[in-house]
Amino acid sequence: LKRYRPTYVEVDLDAIRHNVSALKPAEGELMAVVKANAYGHGDVEVARAALDAGATWLAVALVEEGLHLREAGIDAQVLMLSEFPPGSEADALQADLTPTVYTDEGIDRLAAVAADVDGAVGVHVKLDTGMHRVGLYPPDDVVDFVRRVLDSGLAFEGLWTHFARSDDDAVTTLDQLKLFLQLTKDCLAAGYQPEFVHASNSAATMLLPEAHLDIVRPGIAIYGVEPASGLAERFRLEPALTWRSAVTMSRRLPAGEAISYGHRYKLERDSTIATVPVGYADGYSRRLTDHAEVLIRGVRRPVAGAVTMDQILVDCGDDDVAAGEEVVLLGLQGDEFVSAEELGAISGTIGYEIVTGISERVPREYVGR
Ligand SMILES: Cc1ncc(COP(=O)(O)O)c(C=O)c1O
Repeated sequence: LKRYRPTYVEVDLDAIRHNVSALKPAEGELMAVVKANAYGHGDVEVARAALDAGATWLAVALVEEGLHLREAGIDAQVLMLSEFPPGSEADALQADLTPTVYTDEGIDRLAAVAADVDGAVGVHVKLDTGMHRVGLYPPDDVVDFVRRVLDSGLAFEGLWTHFARSDDDAVTTLDQLKLFLQLTKDCLAAGYQPEFVHASNSAATMLLPEAHLDIVRPGIAIYGVEPASGLAERFRLEPALTWRSAVTMSRRLPAGEAISYGHRYKLERDSTIATVPVGYADGYSRRLTDHAEVLIRGVRRPVAGAVTMDQILVDCGDDDVAAGEEVVLLGLQGDEFVSAEELGAISGTIGYEIVTGISERVPREYVGR
């Protein structure tokens, strides 16, 4: 598709490959979490790069996301992180998506269509050990639950859980891990041995080797965004995403003029004000008003006044910045770097929401193929 507006996201697939290799334990597999269009980075391209770099599994949140990977010809194992929604089972199984189960109804709905599939359908049983979002609860029902899985003609392929605080609280995380390992042992004692036991999101992958088990399941870190402060540097993660644009208009305005909706940014001295074609419709949040900085000529420059739907204004001071010059909204330009975490902190959220929130109208381009 031809691009007319100079605003786009550049995703460095070498960075994805580097991060996947850095995160993959020497012993054990890596499941790349590519839900939500790979956290905004592009699901198919990221999935291919991750598989190239040694990932053996992919994970998605929606059946639609799994089908999208299959339509692109990706035939790796794809785990659904929640139960298949009612009515989606036949399509999901036909596409060979691996089901997660944690309710009796989930087992029944799956078993009803699994009979039409060659061989036993392998399922991953998810235990709620403390996140309290989805999963079998109370989790100590696991042995009975697995018996029901097997009685329904399904195969017990995986057992897994998800941490609530691996980014900020080791005690809670170790409690969850201890409970999960005990429940895994209970299954083994009952004669039920899954092929894959897994628990670790990015923070646990980086901070808690004893939680690596058979597969680690990182998302944010494969994109080079850190789940907790300091981790990216420690693991030499490389941010994969750069959000680029260019100045479309530039003018010299005298001291005393005020800028954008509400005139909340007043010039104290004459200044060059540059217009950049990105706005909150692109996921450049209006909450960045008054606080965010962008990079032009390798220098941090304040966003002047309110972020509008399609455009922002940038105060370039006395520099004669002109139309056509490159602007970096997120990422590296020269020696300066604006991180997703920084934009998250300014707008009252986390780096995850910044990258995931870059909207569809911003084209994604790929380097490092
Ligand atoms: C069940 C599950 N596992 C793993 C992940 C990956 O988490 P992170 O992006 O923090 O690595 C997620 C993401 O939210 C998830 O929901």
